Amino acid sequence: MTDDQWFKSAVVYQVYPRSFQDSDGDGIGDVPGVISRLDYLQQLGIDVLWLSPIYTSPQDDNGYDISDYQDIDPVFGTLADVDELVAQAHTRGIRIVMDLVVNHTSDEHAWFVDARSGPESAKRDWYWWRPPRDGMEAGAPGAEPTNWGSAFSGPAWTLDEASGEYYLHLFSRKQPDLNWENAAVREAVYAMMRRWLERGVDGFRMDVINFISKDPALPDYPVSPSRAPYAEPGQVSCGPRIHEFLQEMHRAVFAGRDALLTVGEMPGVTIEEARLFTDPERAEVDMVFQFEHVDIDHGDGKWDVRPLQLTALKASFGRWQAGLAERGWNSLYWNNHDQPRVVSRFGDDGEHRVHSAKMLGTVLHLHRGTPYVYEGEELGMTNAPFAAIEDFRDIESLNHYAAAIAAGQDQDHVLGALRTMGRDNARTPMQWDGSAHAGFTTGTPWIAVNPNHAEINVEAARADPDSVLHHYRRLIELRHTEPVVAHGDFEMRMADDEHVYAFVRRLGDVALFVLGNFTGAEAAAGEAAEWADAELLLGNYDAPQDHGTLRPWETRVYRRDG
Ligand code: NOJ
Repeated sequence: MTDDQWFKSAVVYQVYPRSFQDSDGDGIGDVPGVISRLDYLQQLGIDVLWLSPIYTSPQDDNGYDISDYQDIDPVFGTLADVDELVAQAHTRGIRIVMDLVVNHTSDEHAWFVDARSGPESAKRDWYWWRPPRDGMEAGAPGAEPTNWGSAFSGPAWTLDEASGEYYLHLFSRKQPDLNWENAAVREAVYAMMRRWLERGVDGFRMDVINFISKDPALPDYPVSPSRAPYAEPGQVSCGPRIHEFLQEMHRAVFAGRDALLTVGEMPGVTIEEARLFTDPERAEVDMVFQFEHVDIDHGDGKWDVRPLQLTALKASFGRWQAGLAERGWNSLYWNNHDQPRVVSRFGDDGEHRVHSAKMLGTVLHLHRGTPYVYEGEELGMTNAPFAAIEDFRDIESLNHYAAAIAAGQDQDHVLGALRTMGRDNARTPMQWDGSAHAGFTTGTPWIAVNPNHAEINVEAARADPDSVLHHYRRLIELRHTEPVVAHGDFEMRMADDEHVYAFVRRLGDVALFVLGNFTGAEAAAGEAAEWADAELLLGNYDAPQDHGTLRPWETRVYRRDG
């Protein structure tokens, strides 16, 4: 195995610093808090720690709106704390990956402040400025230069009264999009990235990186009738220069440096594009975050929640496994700071919480690709019981609520969708113990701790050999010790079955057969009887009497050698 493939047998853990561990009692997690929990992460066995953004930020989108790329927000600590984190992590064999948010800056970034000072500004062209639509008055309804929508409701354009021009923001109005057509923007970003690598970090998770190239003509997009007048922001992605920009970034930043990890978050990316992005010979990124499997229960947009159809989930994963089998590489994830908790979403967060959390973890981790564990997933943390809109903090949820209520939607219906799909489900504090605020803070947490921390927490999970935590530890260890997990082929089985997820992995003489029952009832285990003589490598129940039947939410991993 060559060194540039080290990430194939690695597991990444994502920390959302605001919600992980507070060290100073202000109710917001911070870098010293992360340092204090490195031993926990080392015991879990992870290889890489990805931190959501900790840079200076007005926190309009919890740090995804950066006003200074070179400094740390005081709420999270100091540059010296980051140096300490990198050093301490490296001592434990853990690499540090930083978030890279360069599709947009904060509107409080010096570049945008300068750009906004007027059309004569040398930085004006660093962002996207356009006059109102032909023949329309600035500020008139529908006068925005295009019909693009912001991901956080409303138009993707905000009028700058002083100049009479609009600026583009695919996210909030405090997140103006950088103009990557301008070479000076690209150079400034690459220089900033090099400085972080020189500081000792080991790579980047690149936020919505396929949005950096846009069709420079900025055409209107076809509008779906239910979402008039604004089209989906996802249509503005993978523009004509996207591969050129990523190859240029690779040459300018990564070439000649070893053992880094780069992962591009790419909403809407297709398998064909992903193969190009991750083909090592093209030197773009190591892997991408694709969205197909986490959009699978969305109807007309994410707030139109549909039940999971297991065959559709399997078809999607199966296509991605096949599509990147020869060239490129998959990332594997159920959770991150933008997704509801998987045990509540695709499992059973009540009676079968532990069984279903283990099953979901097993099925995901034994695919081919690099798995990502999101803080608390390894405990089987659940969605939160948000009672009212006042309990939510996320700009996406708050803006959607305001827009939906203004449009006359039923309040309970809107709240129901926020409870199911809202990003705050992932952002409630990490549950360390059963004490007040779950050991997260001695102060008042910025968002309420899930009351189920009395039962679901690290301390309890450590003490229980049957916990989800110990199961995740074994899964991570398996990727390190069983070459078939990292390098084996993948073959989907039982593709038409609505209850059971099944696949085979093979490397040389070694084969694994992985099963997951996605229901709370018994289910037929397909060809499992033929594996009855094989070693049962991992499961979430005692060894079965009847290999042909799976118990509720049961998972099994059989291993045969030769
Ligand atoms: C994707 C990030 O994961 C999300 O949290 C953020 O709101 C948007 N990009 C905008 O940066």
